[in-house]
Amino acid sequence: MPRPGPRATTDNYWNHNTHFHDVVLRSVPRGCGEALDVGCGDGLLARRLASRAAHVTGIDRSPEMIERARTLSAKHGNVEFMEADALACDLPAEGHDFVCSVTAIHHMDFTAALTAMRETLRPGGSLVVISLANSGTLGDRVYSLTCIPVHHYHRFRNRRRAGDPGAPIAWPDMTWSEVREEAARLLPGARFRRHRLWRYSIVWRKPR
Ligand SMILES: C[S@@+](CC[C@H](N)C(=O)[O-])C[C@H]1O[C@@H](n2cnc3c(N)ncnc32)[C@H](O)[C@@H]1O
Repeated sequence: MPRPGPRATTDNYWNHNTHFHDVVLRSVPRGCGEALDVGCGDGLLARRLASRAAHVTGIDRSPEMIERARTLSAKHGNVEFMEADALACDLPAEGHDFVCSVTAIHHMDFTAALTAMRETLRPGGSLVVISLANSGTLGDRVYSLTCIPVHHYHRFRNRRRAGDPGAPIAWPDMTWSEVREEAARLLPGARFRRHRLWRYSIVWRKPR
C-alpha cells in the first residue's frame, strides 16, 4: 500500500481517494435535494457536493474527523456533519436523493452498510461507492501489480497537491469477486468497475 502524503492543508489536495471524487460528483442527480456521504473523513467530498445538492450530510464515527470536517466546512451553510456509526444510526428511509461513500465501506460490514445506503435512497436516486478489495486470485495479484506504474504516474502528476487528511484506515477483508457478487445481489443492475489505484466503484440508480 502506498504511504500517505503530507497532512492536507487545503481543499485542493490529491490522494488515491480524492482521485475518485469526480466519479462520485458525475452521478449526482440534477436538482439533488439531500445528499449523504458515509465515512466522510475531513468532509472534503461533502464540501464538493455542496454546490450540487441543496443539503449535504456527512457521517463519520471518528470524533477527530468530524471536528476537522466542521471546522473546514464552517463557510458551507448547507453542509452538516454527524459523529455516528453509520450502521448504528437510523438513516431515514428513502430520505436521500444521493448517497456516496469513498474508501470507507471496507471498514464496515459490507452487506449491512450497502443495505443501509440502499434503504435511505429515494426511488430514482443514485448511489456511488468507491472502496478497496483484497486479492483472491492470481489474476487479482497481477491486476494489483499493474496499478503500480499508474500510481507512480498520478503521484508524479499531483506531486505538489499530495495530501492526507489523517483519517483512520483499514485493510479490506473481501475479495474483488466477493464485492462484485454481493453488490449485484443487493443492487440489481449496479455497475461495478475495477479501477487502477486499487479501487472499485459501484454506481447504482434506484428504480422508481
Ligand atoms: C479511509 S477513511 C476515508 C475518509 C474519506 N471518505 C476520504 O475519502 O478521505 C475511512 C473513514 O470511514 C470512517 N468510518 C469507518 N467505519 C465507519 C462507520 N461504521 N460509520 C461511520 N464512519 C466510519 C472512518 O472514521 C474514516 O474517517
